[in-house]
Amino acid sequence: MRSHSKNIQTQAVHAGDRKKLADYTPVTTPIFAASTYFYEKAEDLEAVFNNERPGHSYSRYGNPTTSAFEEQVATLEGADFAVATSSGMAAAHLALLAGVSDRRRKIVAASVLYGQTMSMLMKVFEPLGVETRFADVSDLEGFEAAVAEEKPGVVLVETISNPLLRVAEIDRLAEIAHRHGALLLVDATFTTPVMMRPLELGADLVIHSSTKYMGGHGDVLSGVVAGRAELQPTITYLSKTLGATLGAFEAFLTMRGVKTLPLRFERQCANALGLAEALATNADVERVYFPGRPDHPDAAIARRLFPEGMYGAVVSFDLEGGRERALAFLDALRMAAPATSVGDLHTMALYPAMSSHRDLSPKHRQRLGIGDGMLRLSVGVEALEDIVADVEQAVAVSAHKAAAPLAGD
Ligand SMILES: Cc1ncc(COP(=O)(O)O)c(C=O)c1O
Repeated sequence: MRSHSKNIQTQAVHAGDRKKLADYTPVTTPIFAASTYFYEKAEDLEAVFNNERPGHSYSRYGNPTTSAFEEQVATLEGADFAVATSSGMAAAHLALLAGVSDRRRKIVAASVLYGQTMSMLMKVFEPLGVETRFADVSDLEGFEAAVAEEKPGVVLVETISNPLLRVAEIDRLAEIAHRHGALLLVDATFTTPVMMRPLELGADLVIHSSTKYMGGHGDVLSGVVAGRAELQPTITYLSKTLGATLGAFEAFLTMRGVKTLPLRFERQCANALGLAEALATNADVERVYFPGRPDHPDAAIARRLFPEGMYGAVVSFDLEGGRERALAFLDALRMAAPATSVGDLHTMALYPAMSSHRDLSPKHRQRLGIGDGMLRLSVGVEALEDIVADVEQAVAVSAHKAAAPLAGD
């Protein structure tokens, strides 16, 4: 399509633009910012709308940059398809809706989930008539009894829970869900496909907050749902109808992050193991939570399900002294960022009672085992000795501060 107008108004709008892509291949997928696409013949556009030929028509329906990211994730997950979303929460929303849309409008979910996911189940789905029963995934018998009783459309679990880092037996949970006619939806944000591919263990849908390890650089918010072919039409329909689509720029950034995911994540997991070992021998640390340590209740499950030496890159620990001590620890960090996320290149520390689990009452947190002195570290790719040094000096400073009032007595 070429305009030969002599009018500057028309030239400004059309000159240089809308060229057909040439015979070169850019080494990375460009950011296709265009919201709409057209073809030589209008009937080709119609064929795209009808899914009779590949192509793009309107970016909420699909975009070349976003599609490239989706293909990348589907390949890594061993999935038949993937649909990118504007955040991890949008991915959870889409997958849960897809799960209950043609099935029983009931959900059975792990009793410890990311706080906002629990909030979505209780404050968005429940008022709409989709009830959730929470059950402990670490008690498979009890969990199956809950599934048998509720007969839900969907069972929702996380591969590693936050911040206690309990490991879900995805293969057994898939059997339980399927025995009672439910889909298994797995939030695999904390494990990534480098450590576990839930679809291969029987899950039906897997979701990620790709804001975290996949993006990996703390500069993008995105999410993704991947799964088996039967669920593709529903997920695709819901995505384009609800519109929580991922933008092309964000898809580009996340795709770039995923290219180094295996390198980063292997290093982060190794650093986490090293840090957990150091903290376990630190007299000022009350308790360490890490599935790679023999004292973790799910150590055997972690060894069974995860590749050797990989137990995730999050380490939680308790400091005696509650909230005051935990805040003193955060303030004393010199390298690690006291920031609310996981999965970035840099080490981060978070106080669950103040951030990820602030919506839960202190009693509810206590019941789940999340104490007032608990901290969670997302371990980065820095040199292990620097991470250990920073965390240990902050533990020491916080211990000193906690002891200070006594010294003045
Ligand atoms: C396990 C898990 N799932 C989902 C989410 C939500 O992701 P997002 O912040 O990208 O919406 C988070 C965010 O912290 C998370 O940790």
